[in-house]
Amino acid sequence: MPISKAVIPAAGLGTRFLPATKAMPKEMLPVVDKPAIQYVVEEAVNAGLHDVLMITGRNKNALENHFDRATELEAALEAKGDQKRLQEIIRSTQLANIHYVRQRDPLGLGHAVLRAQMHVGREPFAVLLGDDLIDERDSLLSQMIEVHDARASSVVALMEIEPALSHLYGIATVETTEHDDVVTVTGLVEKPTADAAPSNLAVIGRYILQPDVFPILESTQAGSGGEIQLTDALNSLAGSGEAGGVYGVVFRGRRYDTGDRLDYLKAIVQVATSRDDLGPDFTTWLREFVARD
Ligand code: G1P
Repeated sequence: MPISKAVIPAAGLGTRFLPATKAMPKEMLPVVDKPAIQYVVEEAVNAGLHDVLMITGRNKNALENHFDRATELEAALEAKGDQKRLQEIIRSTQLANIHYVRQRDPLGLGHAVLRAQMHVGREPFAVLLGDDLIDERDSLLSQMIEVHDARASSVVALMEIEPALSHLYGIATVETTEHDDVVTVTGLVEKPTADAAPSNLAVIGRYILQPDVFPILESTQAGSGGEIQLTDALNSLAGSGEAGGVYGVVFRGRRYDTGDRLDYLKAIVQVATSRDDLGPDFTTWLREFVARD
């Protein structure tokens, strides 16, 4: 069955960005001039997923407003003759069919994904985590969909990391396949210490999931951090080989992490320097700034 639905968990409190996120969702923090969440929705749409379900919570109304029409603002831009900005704000309302469901209880990523069950039904679907931005020149999600289509399995995105960072990620046990950048995942463990990590391949926030993950999530007990972990449910699928098992696509492209303050600053610099409009001037200034320091 072709994949058409993307699920974007966006219920987190964003405590790492307080006080900026006291009255504003962390997903609305700008990366240059677009909120982080818009990059993620655009990535889903670029991979052909036009049905987007956001898992939200309290204080997330700005997300709905961002993807909705803003008639007063449109009229003001129209009156000013600012067609460029007008088209830009209308574009964000036409990107995708966006649906929202609230998580209600903040019990973890696995619990958030389980909230998508009614909307997704018996279809395979994608999950995109908003803290990870994938450069639009790299087609990770499309590659994962191809692997899913060929093997009728769940697929995770993996990236090589420094072992010292294992405690921040789900880490995979893998076996090679006939394709260089595709591996069979035989096990997954959430946030192990460097010593306990089975490899240096970390799950980054892109998943293609078989709907069989839902009943497994329903019976998944709280794990790492006292939360219901998606990693634990996928570990069951990987171990049993049920529903096609789990494969991994090893990503070697450009990923920008916006999950904490330092990474967020790096993400902005990386995105800004690669922009046609701002990149050249910003890069010149940045070189001078670094040299001066
Ligand atoms: C989540 C997942 C983890 C994954 C990570 C990728 O963790 O639980 O397995 O490696 O996203 O960013 P979080 O970053 O939400 O703690």
